[in-house]
Amino acid sequence: MKITYFGHACFFIETAKARLIIDPFLTGNPQAPVKATEVQCDFILVSHGHDDHMGDALSLSKHCGATIISNYELAEYFAAQGGKAHGMNPGGSFNFPFGRVNLTIAHHSSSLNAGLHPLYMGVPCGFVVRADGKTIYHTGDTGLFLDMQLIGRAGIDLAMLPIGDNYTMGPDDALTALDFLKPKVAVPMHYNTWPIIAQDGAEFARRAAQAGHKVQTLAPGASLEF
Ligand code: NI
Ligand code: MN
Repeated sequence: MKITYFGHACFFIETAKARLIIDPFLTGNPQAPVKATEVQCDFILVSHGHDDHMGDALSLSKHCGATIISNYELAEYFAAQGGKAHGMNPGGSFNFPFGRVNLTIAHHSSSLNAGLHPLYMGVPCGFVVRADGKTIYHTGDTGLFLDMQLIGRAGIDLAMLPIGDNYTMGPDDALTALDFLKPKVAVPMHYNTWPIIAQDGAEFARRAAQAGHKVQTLAPGASLEF
């Protein structure tokens, strides 16, 4: 399995049987190392209805014929606009051609046009993906929650964790999340995209190492193979 960081919360994952992209925020993402039109994928995982996660999901679905995997409301929203979508909800799992996806809870919000009339976009979630004999966990946007101890029982090979603070957990809570999840390796995400979520990834990795955890920071465009 090869995982490439596309900045913010976006990861490109190459499994034996399919190419996945999680939270495809490329257009308008100052960290994005590629353009949406350069991406070829088979499945698109969208954690919640905020622009910095839905991003290019619909256009990628149409352009690549890729299936969007998301919560039920988001899936219906994409399907109503001509996207291919598979709706799920937290706690549910499904066997896709590349492997098994489990939707997890996330403590966050999920809406579009968050002004006078926000559009409800279903519950925010995270994803546990089992493929090629590996288990990876993308938390989505979330604060720390105790159920991460349960999620950790799955035996996480790689966790993608937000450390940006303000909208999600920050470095201190992410360190506690590592205690709960005990992943073999964790990659920090959702930081340094904008000044409001500026964090020191290297410092987070150092603190994690002191606590006995392996954190690998990935610059946008960098990959990890395992
Ligand atoms: Ni969000
Ligand atoms: Mn976000």
